[in-house]
Amino acid sequence: MKVGIVQIDSAFGEIQKNVEKALSHMASHAADLWVLPELFNTGYQFISKEEAAKLAEAVPEGPTTQALIREAKRAKTHIVAGIAERSGRKIYNASVLVGPKGFIAVYRKLHLFYEEKRWFTPGNLPFKIENISYPSPKGGRMTARIGMMICFDWIFPESARSLALLGADILCHPSNLVLTHCPDAMVTRCLENRVFALTANRVGTETRGKEKLTYIGKSQITSPRGQVLYRAAEKKEAVWVQEIDPKEARNKQINAYNNLLTDRKTRFYR
Ligand code: ACM
Repeated sequence: MKVGIVQIDSAFGEIQKNVEKALSHMASHAADLWVLPELFNTGYQFISKEEAAKLAEAVPEGPTTQALIREAKRAKTHIVAGIAERSGRKIYNASVLVGPKGFIAVYRKLHLFYEEKRWFTPGNLPFKIENISYPSPKGGRMTARIGMMICFDWIFPESARSLALLGADILCHPSNLVLTHCPDAMVTRCLENRVFALTANRVGTETRGKEKLTYIGKSQITSPRGQVLYRAAEKKEAVWVQEIDPKEARNKQINAYNNLLTDRKTRFYR
């Protein structure tokens, strides 16, 4: 299976320009599954709830999700992308999954970071797995089980663990990282759950309101054995496609005696 990540510098508020930039990066490569950064279409650093409401879009009717669906149909691919979602009076920091047949799912970030708590409502949907199909090199089709989490969800090990317990092969992880630890931490998240992770971060600096935020780049593809298969540069936009076998995530046996999931002592965990 070919999986790809796109690392861009989004211009705040310029939705059409950011969507076109991400689509043009993807158009130069073929992949069965793409992951784009968190809030890739709007930029990250909102300064008011009104501003977030103005830039948020209904899912799946909004123009960004519709543009992603058109691209997924044209390129026969799947795309996970972070956007601001408007649902009634609530605004969510969300990610959508679309594929060749259209809209598949939305995830709403559960663990909001810092000032996100001022504009966004915390997610109200449980972690979930979607089965997506891709062409097998031997002919026919194979299935990968994918789950979505967004950026700061990484610091709560329960996020990756929940997705692994649900059967995820691949964690799709749109991000706008400002803390430096996540790329290294994802090695542990993958190792302790034996899953792949596609962390798509952004680059650049945003100075809005009283803060200046610099995003750390270093988008990463991590294997179930904790290998860093790809790490992007810190400051440059990047696009990368990696061949992986999602089945590598399905054997949770560490050795003849130990299993990552069935050895857990849940009776003693509080
Ligand atoms: C983050 O969750 N965007 C740091």
